Amino acid sequence: MTTQFDLDTRELAESYDRLSDTQFRFGTLLVDRLGIRPGQRVLDVGCGTGRLAEHLAQRVGPSGEVLGIDPLPFRLEIARKRARPGLSFALGGSDDLPRFADRSWDAVCLNSVFHWIERKEEALREIRRILRPGGRLGIATGDKEQPNPFSAIIREAIASVMGGIPEGARISPFLLSAEELRALVLAAGFPFVEVESTLHSDFVDRVDDLLEFFQASSFGNFLALVPAERRAAVTGRIRRELEKLRTARGIERRFRRLLLVAERKD
Ligand SMILES: C[S@@+](CC[C@H](N)C(=O)[O-])C[C@H]1O[C@@H](n2cnc3c(N)ncnc32)[C@H](O)[C@@H]1O
Repeated sequence: MTTQFDLDTRELAESYDRLSDTQFRFGTLLVDRLGIRPGQRVLDVGCGTGRLAEHLAQRVGPSGEVLGIDPLPFRLEIARKRARPGLSFALGGSDDLPRFADRSWDAVCLNSVFHWIERKEEALREIRRILRPGGRLGIATGDKEQPNPFSAIIREAIASVMGGIPEGARISPFLLSAEELRALVLAAGFPFVEVESTLHSDFVDRVDDLLEFFQASSFGNFLALVPAERRAAVTGRIRRELEKLRTARGIERRFRRLLLVAERKD
C-alpha cells in the first residue's frame, strides 16, 4: 500500500498547523545543526503549512531565499499566507526535484518528511545534484528503532476489528534506522554524514488531540486501510487503550527522532 495524496482536507491541514509544535521544535533543531546563515538559499522539501520555512526565512534574512515545496494543495494554501519577499511556496514533491538547476541551493531540508518518501535513493541523488559543493542536506525523521509509541496499539486495534492486518498494509510509513539512513545518504555520494538519535517525551491531555494529530500528520492516511464503516470500531478501541496509559501528567508520547546532516564535498 502506497502513501495516498488525495485524502487531505482543509480541516486536516488546519489541524496540522495547530498541532505541530513538536515537529516545529525538531525542525528548529535541524536548522541549528545545518548552521543556516544570512544570505543562503534554502529549499524546504515537504514544507507542509510552512511554519519551518518561515523560521528559515528569518535565519537567511533579507539577502537570502527560501522556497518550500509540498505535494498537498491544502497545506500550501496555509503556507502561502506566510509568503513574503524571499519566502515562497510551490506545489511539488521529492519526485519533482529534476526541475531545479545543478548546484543551485546552499541547503536542502526535510523535516518529518523523509519517512513518507518511497523513492528515497532517487530523491537523495537529486538533492546532491542540486546542492552546491559545501552545501548541506538536513533530515529530521522518525526512528524505526523507536517510532510512534502508539503503533502497537493501532496495529492491535486494526487486527482485532478486521480479523488481522490486511495484506500489504503498512501502519507506519517508510521508517529507517539510523544505520539504514546513514548508508542511504552515503550511497548517494555524500561523504560527510552525522546522524543523531534524540529522545523526545511529552504529555498529551486529550486522547482526541492524539487521534486528530495522527490523522492530520498523515494527511488522511491514518486508518485509510480500514473500510469506512469499521473505522469507528477501530478508533473506539484505540481510544480505550490510550486511556489506559493515562498518568497524572497525561498520556506520554515517548519516541526517538533522527537528525541527519550531510555535506556535498565536490
Ligand atoms: C508531517 S508533515 C511535515 C511538514 C513540515 N515539513 C513540518 O515540519 O511541519 C509531512 C509532509 O510531507 C509531505 N510529503 C509526503 N510525501 C512527500 C514527498 N514524497 N515529497 C515531498 N513532500 C512529501 C506531506 O505533503 C506533508 O506536508
